[in-house]
Amino acid sequence: MIPLPSFETERLLLRPLKRSDAKAIYEYSWRDDVGPRAGWAPHQSIKDTKRFIEYALSKPARKQPGVYAVILKAEKRLIGTMEIHSFFEGFKAEIGMVCHPAYQNRGYMHEASKAAMVYAFEFLNLRRLGYSHYPDNKPSERLREKLGFTYEGTLRNFHKRYDGQIVDFVTSSFTDDDYLKHYDSVFEPFKKTLTVK
Ligand SMILES: CC(C)(COP(=O)(O)OP(=O)(O)OC[C@H]1O[C@@H](n2cnc3c(N)ncnc32)[C@H](O)[C@@H]1OP(=O)(O)O)[C@@H](O)C(=O)NCCC(=O)NCCS
Repeated sequence: MIPLPSFETERLLLRPLKRSDAKAIYEYSWRDDVGPRAGWAPHQSIKDTKRFIEYALSKPARKQPGVYAVILKAEKRLIGTMEIHSFFEGFKAEIGMVCHPAYQNRGYMHEASKAAMVYAFEFLNLRRLGYSHYPDNKPSERLREKLGFTYEGTLRNFHKRYDGQIVDFVTSSFTDDDYLKHYDSVFEPFKKTLTVK
């Protein structure tokens, strides 16, 4: 079984998703400015959210790490999800995240992503972490730049969205060498604020 430890950062708790998170996730997953930007259809009802949670909970059985709920400690509130997905043969995976619009632009996803990167490189021992987004997803582009991912290219007509549209995909990556390069300046100081549970 792949470990999925909980992480506490200065402002957040990342812990494995639970069935009881459905209501909090549905608060944003119905919106058309959230899921479609990450490639999934807005949830039509909480039933879709429950189906998503069942899918997330089935990941360990499919040799995938699973999905984190991102909890804002000050409000004891779920504000998004974070995931290391598409884990492949123990050496590479992709990072993906979603934040409730009411909590965007406050650095929470930057903080949660750094915890996920510690998880990716120190617990999963990845050699490569990919980050992909649609070309028009500027907040996502900004976040991956802030995290230090290297742009690799734009794959043309690469992805079929949930609505059937064929779209380009911007890909970037962060390697284990990048992790070492950024360790002293970014990850070591960050880890001083991090608790693993
Ligand atoms: C993409 C997404 C996760 C980005 O989240 P976000 O909330 O914008 O990200 P963050 O707030 O963590 O980081 C980015 C900004 O917050 C700012 N910020 C505010 N307070 C901050 C703090 N205390 N610490 C660090 N950054 C802070 C940063 O400066 C940065 O803005 P900048 O561009 O001016 O530098 C979010 O827009 C989202 O959920 N979108 C819908 C789904 C989606 O697109 N998912 C990604 C699919 S690839």
